[in-house]
Amino acid sequence: MTRTTIPSFTLNNSLDIPVIGFGVFQTPPDETTAAVLAALGIGYRHIDTAAAYGNERGVGEALRRSGLARDDVFIETKVWVTDYGYDAALRAFDKSAGKLGVDVIDLLLLHQPRVEDFALTIAAYQALEKLLAEGRVRAIGVSNFTPAILARFLPEVEVVPAVNQIELHPYFTQRTSMAANTVAGILTQAWSPLGGITFYGGYKGPGKSTLTDPTLRELAAAHGKTPAQVMLRWHVQQGRQVIPKSTKPARIAENFDIFDFELGADELARIDALDTGIRGGPDPDQPQPQFLDYPIPAA
Ligand code: A2P
Repeated sequence: MTRTTIPSFTLNNSLDIPVIGFGVFQTPPDETTAAVLAALGIGYRHIDTAAAYGNERGVGEALRRSGLARDDVFIETKVWVTDYGYDAALRAFDKSAGKLGVDVIDLLLLHQPRVEDFALTIAAYQALEKLLAEGRVRAIGVSNFTPAILARFLPEVEVVPAVNQIELHPYFTQRTSMAANTVAGILTQAWSPLGGITFYGGYKGPGKSTLTDPTLRELAAAHGKTPAQVMLRWHVQQGRQVIPKSTKPARIAENFDIFDFELGADELARIDALDTGIRGGPDPDQPQPQFLDYPIPAA
């Protein structure tokens, strides 16, 4: 499948984004180039990274080695919280673009709200708005913004974010957050779309994995697919963009093979009913001072 044949969502500024991208959260820097090359070879045309993942260079290397034209791949990255404030966020763009080896970033997000220093968050976003106006980024957005944070944020900014990337999987379905995004015209991007966060360790929910969930296994068997494929299909059919992460080529291929089956409304509802209301990641409404311990190195 080429970029033009992967189904896409249209962002609020008319830019298209493939419904499925490739995630590299927790992909070690030395494994990133191989994983991204595998993904591009399979047909993914959207890569989601972040300054804080420490692997933007590996993504850029894969982009160059793939031989694909720059415009054929949608590159998304995120400004880390230590680079908030107007000037710092402009410099953060230079760092990320330098490490990726690109002039233009397709989608640039604020990685987290800084609720204890919201003025810095707004100023960083104003830098993103300037980069957008200059054509150095093609779309801008946010990540880990709850409805309460969005309500504080939207009146302060000019450009409605194109995307809000939030934790969302069958055990944490975030219906209220997705509804708030949709009302504002913001595409919801699901991080940990397979529920990886529920088996990374430190998870406070019931000790179970989405990948072995009996309901997901049953639905998967009924369609001759895997639980991972069923989860990704559930997201896409409900209008969420997904960025599953894997370093294993067989799984990278498996996660892309979701366009030959469809879940019925009753099946989607059974997955919705798996929600526990328990998030795996940090609560964005609370200050996270530990985030400030990880400054982003220069390009
Ligand atoms: P690995 O990189 O070893 O394949 P999420 O994107 O929801 O956070 O999930 C990522 C986690 O799920 C990673 O631990 C990844 O491990 C694993 N994973 C990704 N795809 C699959 C798959 N198709 N089947 C099983 N595990 C998967």
